[in-house]
Amino acid sequence: MLKGKKIVLGITGGIAAYKAAELTRECVKREASVRVIMTKNAAEFITPLTLQTLSGHPVFMDMYVPMRDFEMAHISLAEFADAVVIAPATANVIGKIASGLADDLLTTTVMATKAPVLICPAMNTNMYGNIIVKENINKLSASGYLFIEPAFGELACRAEGYGRLAEIPDIMEEIESVLTDKDLMGENILVTAGPTREPFDPVRFITNYSSGKMGYALAIAGKRRGANVTLISGPSALPVPRGVKHISVSTAVEMRDAVMENMETASVIIKAAAVADYRPQVRMNTKIKKREGELAVRLERNPDIIAEVGKKKGNRILVGFAVETENLMENARTKLREKNMDIIVANDVTQEGAGFAYDTNIVKIIGTDGNIEDVPLMDKMEAADRILNRIKNIIEQRS
Ligand code: PMT
Repeated sequence: MLKGKKIVLGITGGIAAYKAAELTRECVKREASVRVIMTKNAAEFITPLTLQTLSGHPVFMDMYVPMRDFEMAHISLAEFADAVVIAPATANVIGKIASGLADDLLTTTVMATKAPVLICPAMNTNMYGNIIVKENINKLSASGYLFIEPAFGELACRAEGYGRLAEIPDIMEEIESVLTDKDLMGENILVTAGPTREPFDPVRFITNYSSGKMGYALAIAGKRRGANVTLISGPSALPVPRGVKHISVSTAVEMRDAVMENMETASVIIKAAAVADYRPQVRMNTKIKKREGELAVRLERNPDIIAEVGKKKGNRILVGFAVETENLMENARTKLREKNMDIIVANDVTQEGAGFAYDTNIVKIIGTDGNIEDVPLMDKMEAADRILNRIKNIIEQRS
């Protein structure tokens, strides 16, 4: 979602400066326009040529060298930026900004910009623990500067502790968040995602192909747009999204209990999980041994979570999904009506690129007003935003 966004990336002199290359590449891959400012010390760790090649633009280092397109570099860059990101940020640059010092291109740009500034500290663990550094970070945080905590681990100096530059995916997520309008601020969104597992002995279970990607995309998009998000997830290989309350469950019964416990405070409930409708009637305590002849596993119904939520939802907005392989619209409309949903997202999983495990989806968003929005093949993150836009319309109509 960074397409067309303008990012000024400040790189300062620490060993983690080499990681700024990957950060630049990620921003460019997501179609952001990146301009890099390097301090003189940063150039001791990584060459400007590397960043110039990756960003596709000259690297800015000196305040006094006239630049094509940027007459007064610090003012132009400050105005150009939708966001300024400093990664890695040394104790020195944090101290300078906190003291109001502006003695090089990076610090003058920071001083002159009205864009949000995201600071990603990376330094020796004792330096990061130093009271003066802490005070500087607290002072800047209180003034609206944004920070992403360093990670824990082994540092270049062989010490172990906090001080490593935060992981690039985490920094990218923060950048996405910083650059997203907070139009769902104040909403409490409960999302279910992933499959459920219904065991019939300690080593085997019934499940489905859900990866969790659609539900996680909804949780991440909601969080970026300012909502408080609770994500109740069946087993998934996806990383836990930052800034989201994550509750891990396995069976449909566990998912039902977690939804009931958490729905009270929710203003929006989105059921993207692929819940098993049936579970084995008997769960053996020991592994079922193979023997001659057939084996029958008797199944019993699982709770229909969305139907139960539909009965108790009050004025909460309830969004369901429908996975169908035939009669898509008819079956989806029946579920919408019978389970008291406000929106149903119809997923024809027979189409290439739609439904289980793909990074993309193709859906139809159907409201109780009969309005149908066709969402063609697109990334699940974009599809998630389309679904959230529809939810936002309902919120606006009601207020
Ligand atoms: O996770 P991915 O790999 O990204 O795949 C995404 C997805 C295909 C799983 C997702 O987009 C999707 O369509 N999820 C719903 C799948 C499903 O269970 O469909 P359904 O038609 O069987 O159920 C209808 C609705 O009832 C769903 O909102 C479901 O969460 C809910 N349900 C179903 C059964 C049950 N016992 N309790 C429920 O709450």
